[in-house]
Amino acid sequence: MEFLNIEKYTYLEEKHRGYLDQLKDFCKKSPRLPRYHIHPPCGLLNDPNGLCYFEGKYHVFYQWFPFAPKHGMKHWAHVISEDLVHWEWSEEMLVPDHEFEKNGCYSGNSIEAGGKQYLFYTANYKTKQGKVPKQALAVMEKDGKIHKYSGNPVIDGAPEGMSGEIRDPFVFEKDDSYYMMLGGSDLDGTGQILIYKSADLLSWDYRGNLDLGRQDLGTMFECPAYMEIDGKDVLLLSLIGRAAQEERFQNEFSTVCFTGRIDLEKLTFETETMEELDKGFDFYAPQMFCGKGGRPLMFGWFGCGVQELPYFREDMWQHALTLPREICIKDGRLYQMPAQEIISQFSALDIKRGQIIIPEENAWRLHLISDTECKTEIHIGESYDHLKIVMDPIKGQFIADRSCLKQKISEEYGTRRVCPLDTHKSVEVDLYYDNTFLEIYIDGGKDVMSLRLFPESYKVEMI
Ligand code: FRU
Repeated sequence: MEFLNIEKYTYLEEKHRGYLDQLKDFCKKSPRLPRYHIHPPCGLLNDPNGLCYFEGKYHVFYQWFPFAPKHGMKHWAHVISEDLVHWEWSEEMLVPDHEFEKNGCYSGNSIEAGGKQYLFYTANYKTKQGKVPKQALAVMEKDGKIHKYSGNPVIDGAPEGMSGEIRDPFVFEKDDSYYMMLGGSDLDGTGQILIYKSADLLSWDYRGNLDLGRQDLGTMFECPAYMEIDGKDVLLLSLIGRAAQEERFQNEFSTVCFTGRIDLEKLTFETETMEELDKGFDFYAPQMFCGKGGRPLMFGWFGCGVQELPYFREDMWQHALTLPREICIKDGRLYQMPAQEIISQFSALDIKRGQIIIPEENAWRLHLISDTECKTEIHIGESYDHLKIVMDPIKGQFIADRSCLKQKISEEYGTRRVCPLDTHKSVEVDLYYDNTFLEIYIDGGKDVMSLRLFPESYKVEMI
């Protein structure tokens, strides 16, 4: 099927329905659709947005360019679920159809107040002199209807000393006030988190930038996310321009997780731990939120930057979100595991060293326990075309290696990812495979790797 020949910043209108319906039908036949990962019906998906549990249902929005599997005019697509497993499409989405958001509805989160869900987003607004940062609001009513606030944008322009690259509002409540974090870059080209405060979610005062106690995190920050979990303050940040460091920060862009203590009066974050949140190849822009009963959950974008994945032209869709992940603090660090509801959906495989199995279903999970003294390898695919997973207790390394796959993916960012392990200790590893999407949970979710793979066959071998 052909790409629609449209101007990049075209928003979805009634006149596009016919093309879009055809495109959606075409995409349904793609052999690479995941079963449990939220993916676009066509076009390109990136960041999760506005995540919430509202009126008894989970709402997930995501960055969506409907017309082709590449970056373009971003809408907020919307899917709804009662159980985190089955998702239904909603036509109540954010379409960038106003002048103030003429280049897209960019990322943001949401917060409940007075029985309504307030959706904050960046109204992308480009001029010849650069971007003018604008933050905007839409409100979801109890019946699910969404309307944009008539006083938009709620924040217009950049504070002194900051560049026009400011975006991705993350709004939260603390000590009876509302705060908004924004990611951005200052005029010296250093990444910054801007802090705004509000009493009513409508008028916002700039308080300054959050001091993270370090300057080496990159040139631009995107998608800040904050939550207090098990008594610790947790801050997620997506980094542009963070230099690679040995085996770390290898991707085009990286996401880090800080734990520690935030002080919103002094504007400081005292860091206790800082880790790459997902050590795989294909992950970015995660967001945390409270699920049913206040349980902390997270989704990330199962993709990164401007990747062109194998088959994207044939498929006419690209990327997905990660599985919903349950998050908690253990030994001062963030741990992640797939939400309970989703785990039971995957059929469990059983494999022993020296065995080869051919999974009957294309969504499976595999629980592994490594040896304490000898290497274990898992190969997914054929000998001439496979992903290699290595658990090495001697060197103390877990490795995911894509170098033996025929379909190359963003090789300029390297073909292997490494996670340090304790030496001479056995480690438990859980693989969740969902038709080209693989999530690997190491040591009970202490570390995670998300990655795509496109081998010809999905034979699993343990060596
Ligand atoms: C991160 C990001 C955000 C922005 C959005 C646009 O992937 O660049 O900073 O709001 O994507 O789609």
